[in-house]
Amino acid sequence: MRVYHTIAELRSALAGASRPVLVPTMGGLHEGHLSLVRVAAAAGRPVVTSIFVNRLQFAPSEDFARYPRTLDRDVELLEGAGCDVVFAPTEVELYPEPQLFKVLPSAQLSAVLEGAVRPDFFTGVCTVVLKLLHIVQPHAAIFGKKDYQQLLVLRAMARQLTLPVAISAAETVRASDGLALSSRNTYLTDEQRRQAPELYATLCQMAGRLREGVSAQQVEADALRILTARGWRPDYVAVRRQADLGSADGQEPQVILAAATLGSTRLIDNVEV
Ligand code: PAJ
Repeated sequence: MRVYHTIAELRSALAGASRPVLVPTMGGLHEGHLSLVRVAAAAGRPVVTSIFVNRLQFAPSEDFARYPRTLDRDVELLEGAGCDVVFAPTEVELYPEPQLFKVLPSAQLSAVLEGAVRPDFFTGVCTVVLKLLHIVQPHAAIFGKKDYQQLLVLRAMARQLTLPVAISAAETVRASDGLALSSRNTYLTDEQRRQAPELYATLCQMAGRLREGVSAQQVEADALRILTARGWRPDYVAVRRQADLGSADGQEPQVILAAATLGSTRLIDNVEV
């Protein structure tokens, strides 16, 4: 496995090889990221993992400065998971000048849920992913369902901008107690870590009640009340259509998405119904 920090080195290393599969990450790697790398490796093409903490997708009030940066450990983990090339650019390499051209994603998909709380988030994500796709020119790129809305936004970007790349989805990897793995779980205190599985447990209970025929509105209201009573600060708990995150009428496949803060750590999760 080779590690490159510049676009020029990466491009010359990839020249002549078959188009790779790209796994974009912000580092602080865990089994969730590694599962994406394993899915990518199964495609029989070279696997490129990018590691870049993208300032553009963080609001000034968010955790850009304290986001985990663990490159040496990440490189070791990637080697073991079957990655071929790591692309870990500096900020100056990816943004040599202020990034004034940005991708404006569809408001329908990106102004709701995460986008309602974090207005510039999906613009930042789409802009960096578009740049990475241009740099790496992969055959496919793999994203986790853990960030469900991000996956849908990036799929729509690839479709609407006619990008020559397949966007693939990988299942959410969880700890044995149900907590979705996340780089931000490292912020949790021991006590918060013990409490954190409540988020996924609540989503699973909601899914069960929806299947029993309880209305989405009722299920959402009860979940908000329960999480709040347990000390969470929910941003949203919402039952939506899987296809486009529109209002669920119960006829089409649904997904329940939630974001809530425990202590000072904001966690997101979702469950397909
Ligand atoms: P990051 O949070 O590092 O996640 C990188 C990829 O790993 C994303 O596709 C995410 O959905 C996936 N992932 C994270 N936790 C997972 C889990 N528990 N199970 C399965 N997949 C998981 O998402 C980003 O970075 C950034 O927004 C990025 C797309 C790299 C753009 O900067």
